[in-house]
Amino acid sequence: MPYTEATLWETLRKASSPIVPHVASAETEIDGYTIEKGTMVFINNYELNVGEEYWSNPEEFMPERFLSPAGNVVKPAHFIPFSTGKRTCIGQRLVQCFSFVILATLLQHYDISAGSEVKIKPGCVAVPPDCFKLILTPRILQSD
Ligand code: HEM
Repeated sequence: MPYTEATLWETLRKASSPIVPHVASAETEIDGYTIEKGTMVFINNYELNVGEEYWSNPEEFMPERFLSPAGNVVKPAHFIPFSTGKRTCIGQRLVQCFSFVILATLLQHYDISAGSEVKIKPGCVAVPPDCFKLILTPRILQSD
């Protein structure tokens, strides 16, 4: 079910944390700049997730952007919602598996629509609980 997986990646592109702060544990150099020990360093996930340099029509919700012409899921190297390296999110496999099962099960049983036009601000660290409502209409499942 590549489209379901692609939908989850596209949701994370729109909704994952815009920044990931770290502190340099030793003096180092990045691109000719000296980074002193103790300096706070941020991964700018906001730019990586919505920058026009990285995505076409970044404002659009388009799961297809994560699908190859053959229909396989492809994740560009610059897309790192769970960060990367030694401190990468240890919950990412759990999140991927749970989200997949929850989304697929919900869509199997309900038609889901928004009551009114929904505008989600990208880059929210936490989405407020009352920002929009969904309507879930039970689907009539065919039985053999
Ligand atoms: C959509 C859901 C999630 C996203 C987008 C996410 C993203 C992230 C990010 C960006 C980091 C920072 C990595 C870094 O410092 O470079 C992180 C760290 C971490 N995450 Fe998640 N996370 C999610 C869910 C979870 C869940 C469900 C768990 C646990 C079951 C979890 C456990 C952790 C832990 C323990 C760390 C710290 C790892 C370390 O510092 O070594 N996360 N996560």
